[in-house]
Amino acid sequence: MILGIVTGGGDAPGLNAVIRAVHRAAARRGMRVVGFQDGFDGLLHPETAVVLDHVNTAGILGRGGTILGTSNRGSFTVKTGLGERHALDPAIVARAGATLDQLGVQALICIGGDGSLTIALALARAGINVVGVPKTIDNDISATSTSFGFDSAVSMVTEALDRLHPTAYSHRRIMVLEVMGRHAGWIGLYGGIAGGADVILIPEIPFDLAHVVDAVRARERNGRHFTMVVVAEGARPVGGTVTTRAGSSDGEAKLGGIGERVTADLERRTGKEARCVVLGHLQRGGAPTAADRVLATTLGSAAVRLVEDACFGSMVALDGFRITAVPIADAVRGLKLVPPDHFLITVARELGVSLGDEPPEPRGGTSA
Ligand code: F6P
Repeated sequence: MILGIVTGGGDAPGLNAVIRAVHRAAARRGMRVVGFQDGFDGLLHPETAVVLDHVNTAGILGRGGTILGTSNRGSFTVKTGLGERHALDPAIVARAGATLDQLGVQALICIGGDGSLTIALALARAGINVVGVPKTIDNDISATSTSFGFDSAVSMVTEALDRLHPTAYSHRRIMVLEVMGRHAGWIGLYGGIAGGADVILIPEIPFDLAHVVDAVRARERNGRHFTMVVVAEGARPVGGTVTTRAGSSDGEAKLGGIGERVTADLERRTGKEARCVVLGHLQRGGAPTAADRVLATTLGSAAVRLVEDACFGSMVALDGFRITAVPIADAVRGLKLVPPDHFLITVARELGVSLGDEPPEPRGGTSA
């Protein structure tokens, strides 16, 4: 049997670990694996497909990015603007099917986030034998407890906060760290808690800057002359919209700029010096953490088992500590957002961390 494998959407630490695991698990079963290059558009270019072997998959377990290349733009794009979806062009799907036939590929493993899994679902509905593997640093795919790439991104946010903390207190400044998180604030919430942020602003909880200003002032009164703010790129003020950058021709709009806005507003309204750091793609690059390597390897080998069992149209998933299979359709039904009653929201409030939606408690926020 010949398996195809494709990585779609933004890269995430752990993609190569999945590719390696798929190759190894497939080889043990006497299956061959063909990798499509540069995302789903590789399905339109059979001449660029590569046969995976022990040479080109050697030494990639801990390497960031994807050896196959990826893209969140191109002919298969199913999401535009701020999250709207449109159907895949049937002619494109037919060309993808023709490529698979030409190369003798009987099943296709699609590794990707919400957008890529939506493409995978369309291919499955067109009769292609598809198995999905969830990938997102944002941790926003439904039907899986977590996805690889998230832990690596959170580690990067934590390290950034650890580095920014000393310079913030030395200069008695407000330090704003803008992190990824388009619709979901998981990176900001987990990274902010791990790095001891005083204010965490996430897309799910629209913020009132007056509460953030009050939090800074409350800290001043308590003798803490610096404030660490984490803001997710998709965070927005109450009644306001997300901050976008110009320049997206297809695919989703480019977010960014909320960190600078919050920094300028806080400086103006508190009279304190403030600085902004945008962590950007540092969260996506670099080596996967041990936890992400383990998860990615586990999901890769489980995907081959699903192919063997002909569980097509399914996605491998993590359910607590169990590996399961769920319909891809369930995984793309809606994004997994931070629920208001999530335990870490409670923890943040318990610690006096401002989430921007309530005035600070009388004693003000806390911080080491
Ligand atoms: O989906 C993951 C993500 O990291 C989002 O948080 C972010 O908006 C997006 O990717 C940016 O992707 P790119 O710069 O590749 O368009």
